[in-house]
Formats: sequence, structure tokens, C-alpha cells
Amino acid sequence: MPATFPRARKAVIPAAGLGTRFLPATKATPKEMLPVVDKPAIQYVVEEATDSGLDDVLMVTGRNKRALEDHFDRAYELEQLLELKGDKEKLLRVRASSELGTVHYVRQGNPRGLGHAVLCAEPHVGDQPFAVLLGDDLIDARDRLLTRMLDIQQRYGGSVVALMEVDPDRAHLYGCAAVRPAGDAEQDDVLRVTDLVEKPEPGTAPSNLAVIGRYVLAPEVFDVLRRTPPGRGGEIQLTDALRELAADPSLGGPVHAVVFRGRRYDTGDRGEYLRAVVRLACEREDLGPDFRAWLADFVASDAAATNGAPVGTGEPIRTGEPVTVGQRA
Ligand code: G1P
Repeated sequence: MPATFPRARKAVIPAAGLGTRFLPATKATPKEMLPVVDKPAIQYVVEEATDSGLDDVLMVTGRNKRALEDHFDRAYELEQLLELKGDKEKLLRVRASSELGTVHYVRQGNPRGLGHAVLCAEPHVGDQPFAVLLGDDLIDARDRLLTRMLDIQQRYGGSVVALMEVDPDRAHLYGCAAVRPAGDAEQDDVLRVTDLVEKPEPGTAPSNLAVIGRYVLAPEVFDVLRRTPPGRGGEIQLTDALRELAADPSLGGPVHAVVFRGRRYDTGDRGEYLRAVVRLACEREDLGPDFRAWLADFVASDAAATNGAPVGTGEPIRTGEPVTVGQRA
């Protein structure tokens, strides 16, 4: 694929959200620090950025987010202790998050929406294309969505969003795109975006192609964001700025979309968060075999209990709380 435009080198991760869906867990802990198996959700996202060649990461944070800075910093006392003990495995695990690349921070003093968070990144990003990764969306590391988007941006210039087909009943939960073919038979996962609507009223979505939390943006998006009025929810919406770019390519180049058909976990939703933890735990080489066996037994006992049969012989469930059959999130 011929490269014609400069490639994005920096990643911006908005992380100022309050995480109210996870209260009380997020009362004193940033939602980005909730563990997915044994790593905070945000570490998967930073790893995705650095694995895709973006080793300059800017986090847009807010109050109550100091744990994020600590997590991506060295932890000397802990490292010394592990060194003394000769525990190399844990030492590697502790160090991994501080060796991912350079992580910078800027505060979004008065959070006014995703578009506003992206605008806070302007002084750091400057006049080069850049990626935006939303922390609630985990993209399976094997599916390489961001690398594909960076390639497409390099080929066509302008901006690139990621779209995923969703059930039409769920389209109102996302930004939705109107699209046409990009006119390049070799890239059958690439479309041209002609319009975007943030969280359309039920039944009015232009398609069932929903924007998911990965973007590669032209720096001209900053000029548009500066004059974008508050939109859906009274917030400055990135989708509204991209809509303007899509309508007039003379502003900052075209807007293309990569249609993603891989594995995405929305860890901002409690049910999906639990599913992500279970799926990723099952796939882990160290934890997976035991956990899968326990899970299969648990599901069988659960099904048997729901059908009124005696509960199976699996290990006791040690949740510390009674399990209500059929009502788990
Ligand atoms: C944001 C965007 C929306 C997008 C979604 C993907 O919404 O505004 O366009 O579809 O992320 O996760 P949020 O989920 O922050 O409300």
C-alpha cells in the first residue's frame, strides 16, 4: 500500500470521566484502574497504542486520577523489595507498565465532553495526525485495529474512524455513520464517511454502523472543535466535529472508516466488563485451564439449579455473597 501522508506518532487517551456506572468501586479509584483479570483496563489501552508504534501517549485526566500517574511510573520501593526477594516474575510485571513509552498528562479542568477532552491535547499534539483511544473500549490485541487505521490514514490522509455493525436497537447508544464505498476494491473493510450523528434518536440512525472508541485524526479537527457548540447531552462532541470534516474535505481531508469485525469489549458497561474479565481469563495460559474447568462446572451447576435438579459437585463458590441463580449481571 503506497504511503502518501505522514503517519500519526502520538496517542491521546481521554481519561477524565467519573465512572458513575461503577459506583461505589469508582468513588476513590479511577474507573480506568479497574482490573481486567490482573491488569488495569487502561494498561491494555496504552499497550495497544505502543504496540501500534505510538510511543508518545498523552492522557487527558481530571481530579481523582493520580493513581493513573502512579501506575505508569516506577515503583522503587516495591521493585527493590522484589529484587531482594529474587522474584523476577513479579518484578517484570511491576516494571512493564512503566516501560511502555512516554506517558504525558494534561488535566481537563472542567470536563465538557469528549470533543473538549481532545481539544485539551492540542498543545501536545501540534500539527500532526494523532490517534485517540477511548479507555472504555478494549480491542483484542490480536485484532490490530489501530494499526490498520494508521495505515489507512497514511494512505488517504484526513481522518479515520472505526465502525462496527450493531443491532439497530442499540444504534442510539453510539455515534452512527452514513457511508459510501471508498472506491478502492483492494480495501474491502474501508468506507468513506459522508455523515455522522451522535446518539441518534431511536429509529433515526443513518445506518447500523456505530463509531467505536478508536480514531486517527487530522490536526485540523482542533480548529473545528474550537467552534463546535455543545451537542448531545450539552457536551462538546467529537462526533459533531468529525461530521463537519466529513461534509467538507477541504477543511482537513476526507473522513474514512475501517469496519471492524474483531473482538471488542466495552468495559464501561458492568455486564460487558464481567464478560471481558471471564473471556480474557479463560484465554490466559497461566490461569485459563483451571478457570475454564471451574467455569464449566459452575455453569452446569447453575443450569441444573435453574431446572430444579440437585446442584452439581463443583468447588464451592467463594464470592463472599450469596449467588442468586439466574440474576447474575
Ligand atoms: C463515545 C462517542 C460515541 C461513540 C462511543 C464509543 O460515547 O461520543 O460517538 O460511539 O464513545 O464507545 P460515550 O460512550 O463516551 O458516551
